[in-house]
Amino acid sequence: MKKTRDLENYKFYIHTFGCQMNENDSERIAGILTKEGAKISALLEESNLIILNTCAVREKSEEKLYSFLGRLASLKKTKNITIGVAGCVAQLYGSELSEQKPFVDFVIGPDNYQKLPQIISDNIGEKILSTSWSPEWQETPSELIFRESQVSAYVTIMEGCNNFCSYCIVPFTRGREKCRPIQNIIHEVKDLADTGYLEIQLLGQNVNSYRDPQTGKDFSALLRELNRVDGIEWIRFITSHPKNFSPEIGFAIKESEKVCRQLHLPVQSGSSSVLKRMNRGYTREDYLEKIELLRDLMPDINLSTDIIVGFPGETDEEYKETFILLEKVRFTNIFSFRYSVRPKTAASKKQDTVPLEEKRRRLIEVQSLQKKIQLEHNQSLIGSIMKVLCLGESKKAPRIFSGRNEGYQVVNFKSKKDFIGKFVDVCITSCGPYSLIGEIVL
Ligand code: 5AD
Ligand code: SF4
Repeated sequence: MKKTRDLENYKFYIHTFGCQMNENDSERIAGILTKEGAKISALLEESNLIILNTCAVREKSEEKLYSFLGRLASLKKTKNITIGVAGCVAQLYGSELSEQKPFVDFVIGPDNYQKLPQIISDNIGEKILSTSWSPEWQETPSELIFRESQVSAYVTIMEGCNNFCSYCIVPFTRGREKCRPIQNIIHEVKDLADTGYLEIQLLGQNVNSYRDPQTGKDFSALLRELNRVDGIEWIRFITSHPKNFSPEIGFAIKESEKVCRQLHLPVQSGSSSVLKRMNRGYTREDYLEKIELLRDLMPDINLSTDIIVGFPGETDEEYKETFILLEKVRFTNIFSFRYSVRPKTAASKKQDTVPLEEKRRRLIEVQSLQKKIQLEHNQSLIGSIMKVLCLGESKKAPRIFSGRNEGYQVVNFKSKKDFIGKFVDVCITSCGPYSLIGEIVL
């Protein structure tokens, strides 16, 4: 008879790389394992099951995984541990990863997490590979999600992507778009409100293309429905695709008082010719038009974006258009990256022409411009009073609390009283480019 192992014998540690969807997936994995009797641990050293939830979006994220795996390989020589690799790298490399890293006990893709308890209890001396795709939405009941925060919760509403931007690996790691039924989303959000959550963050690779599989209700309809859930105070969402960002979504944000006036709208490049080569489906002008519409509707909206510099063939002139776009739009925050070649993508078949040094130079230039813009913006907020949701206390400096304002900026403040999980009014007294500092107004 096949030997199996009781999940109760496991203490597990999950290390999460990458985006918020991976964080939410790790919360699901933790819930699925806890339900079967395994115990979660915050310490790798005291765990006998270690799961790495991986990210493949850039080469650097993969490198981080391989160096972590190197450490685990040494640990396994001295200790009886089970090692699992989950997430995007697992899905992408599957059997190859399993063969190249023989100390890894199981490799599991994002559509297979429900099978984890079975995989782990079966895993006595044999390696397991579970990377099949599921065309249907895989529902994990809300109560099964072991959430990190008791204040702000991630709610995945769709997964996968149909866009095939030429640089992006996501369609190969997360598959095609799958939308979660609207009634399940509403049910989860109501549950979260009943448990005391004040903020939800809707997640999906391209939330703007959300459609309820049964009724066809779109993303703006979903926002309006969630706006009616009592108890939830703030609703945010990522990531939006400019191509699918319709005026209706702008109206839904404006007219739904709980939907924060904050939008992450990745532009990637300010050059229409680069955007075409990236297969983004919009031009510089289309993007700027959407920004103008949003600012006409909501002058106080905080905008953030993603930028890639050094895409294959990006000339100095094309790069400068990105720089000028950043000067023009003045985002509150950006995430900027050097182009990184990803397997299977269309861009990987083109020559990576921009030398590394030049990519670095462009990135530094973009980041210092943005730093200056953010500092100026933050300085203009000194003296104002803003509503802040307190999310936690600093580990290094006790009694220094940290939260976010409606625009998703980090606000730190000192307090003798614990305000975690509460809204507070904070008067901004100073700032840096990446955060605001203030005092509680009672
Ligand atoms: N190289 C660099 N950055 C990338 N991103 C996605 N793929 C790549 C790549 N191959 C960035 C994009 C995306 C963000 C999540 O990561 O800016 O919006
Ligand atoms: Fe990647 Fe483009 Fe899909 Fe975003 S929209 S996940 S960048 S392919």
